[in-house]
Order: sequence, then structure tokens, then C-alpha cells
Amino acid sequence: MVFKDRDVISINDFSKDEILYVLKIAKNLEQNPKPLAKGKIMAPLFFEPSTRTRMSFIAAMERLEGEVDGFASSKITSVKKGETLWDTVKTVEKYTDLIVIRHPLEGAARLAAEASSKPVINAGDGANQHPTQTLLDLYTIWKTKGGLTNLKIGLLGDLKYGRTVHSLVTAMAHFNPKFTFISPEALKMPDSYLIMLDENKIQYTETEEILPAINDLDILYVTRIQKERFPDPIEYERYKGAYRITKNTLSSVKKDLKIMHPLPRVNEICKEVDNTGHAIYFEQAANGIPVREALIALVLGKIK
Ligand code: CP
Repeated sequence: MVFKDRDVISINDFSKDEILYVLKIAKNLEQNPKPLAKGKIMAPLFFEPSTRTRMSFIAAMERLEGEVDGFASSKITSVKKGETLWDTVKTVEKYTDLIVIRHPLEGAARLAAEASSKPVINAGDGANQHPTQTLLDLYTIWKTKGGLTNLKIGLLGDLKYGRTVHSLVTAMAHFNPKFTFISPEALKMPDSYLIMLDENKIQYTETEEILPAINDLDILYVTRIQKERFPDPIEYERYKGAYRITKNTLSSVKKDLKIMHPLPRVNEICKEVDNTGHAIYFEQAANGIPVREALIALVLGKIK
């Protein structure tokens, strides 16, 4: 297992053992913070809005006693003057030790990794991948359920454009889950993921209805219908309020059902659900810090 100088672009690049190793390091760092990034600089390059990913990467770097120099919006950079992504990355790599990039275009993180001699971490590229979100999602499931194997997991909402669900389904395929995919027909899980699940003999069902599909689940992973991913705004208007979880929706679910959401939410989970024992989405967001600490320390070669 070699992590030093490695790019983190897709969850497909991680074996099952590597995933479990990252989670173990995250747990160690959560319990015992260490100054593993002292003297190192991380560059968050965010070409698309973010609250959790950007701030938790920064918090993780600061907890490791490293420094941060990047941007939260390309509007205040020379991208506005026409600079290419390639040239931006070629420049930033001269100033820093690690690049974290979020970009609206699929493949942008891979391109950045080709341009950079320093490690690049994908913080979300279009509808494609969000591997660090997946690792923190796995960490959250692992902590709350005591393991990752043989779980019944429902994924609800925009399964077509949702990069977090694409990465999560790929990673969980290592752990013999049973999936229930709940979405409007037009936003169903892409065939490429269903073929991957078939090839790995992972069971799944697809439905457009929340009930009774959620009643025997261990985890319900809710996603936002993402306005910014729809090529046609009229299509977005059709689906934007398709699902809303309320306390009433949860009246027959298992007592230990846990509800996750990568956030931000719009209206798909009613605030009244926050105070039930089911909601763990804010803990999930907090788990971004130890998981990103682990990844930073690993790619900087500070943990073998
Ligand atoms: N979960 C997530 O990626 O949130 P942000 O868009 O706020 O970073």
C-alpha cells in the first residue's frame, strides 16, 4: 500500500484494504491529533461553491499544523483573464505541496493531476466523483454501525447526477450491501453503475416510491436534486420537490435506521427530522475533518 505522492481522483483507485486503512488512520487522528503537516502548504482550488469540503480540508490541514494558500472562487484569480486550468495548476504546484481541487467539469481533477508533480486530491468534479466525501461517508457508516458489511442501504433523490452516490455505490460494492435506489425514472442510477453491481453480484432494487422501500433499511442516504447539474431548467422544476422526508415518513422505519445526507439540503429532509435519533448528517459533515487529515498525512508521506 503506497500513499505517498499519490493523487486521489476516484474511489475506484482504492482497494478494499486501502479504504479500511484510511478509516483506521482517520480514527487514530481523531483521537490523537498530530502535527504531521508542519512546514507543508495545501492549496484548495475551488472553481465551484463549497462549504463543507473546503472548510473541512482547511480545518484538517490546520489540525495537522500545516498551512493553507488557495482560493474559494476562481472569480478573483487569473482564470478571469483567460488562464487555463493546466497553467493555473502548473503555477500553484510551485508554491505548495498539495493541491485540492473542486471543478464543475468532469475530468478536471484528472487533468490537474497530470499537470501537477505534487499530489492532487479531487474535491468533486462535476457529476463524476467526490472520493473524499465517500471516504467520510464510509467512516460515518463504519462508526455508527460498527462495520461496513451486509448493510441494507437506500439511496434517495438525484441518482443520475449525484457524484456522492456514484462514488458511494462503487466503494460499498466491496462490502456486500443490498441497495434500494429511490428516484424519479428520469434521475435513476446510471446503467454503468447497475452493470458494475450485476458483475459483482450485488443485490439492488429500484423504485420511485419512498414507502415502503425505506422500512427495512439500515442506512438511508438522501441527496439533493441538484439544480446546477440539469441541462434544462424546466426539467429541474419538474423534479425539485419530488421527495421530502418528514417525521411521519419515518413512522415505520427500523429504530436504528440512520439518515445521511452529504449536504447542503434544500427541502428534501424536513428540519423536524434533525432531532430524531435517525439523523446523522451533521456528524457526517464533522467526520470530514479526520478523514481529510488522514488523506493529507498519507499523500504527504507522513504516515506509511
Ligand atoms: N458535501 C459537500 O460536498 O458539501 P459542500 O458542497 O458544501 O462542499
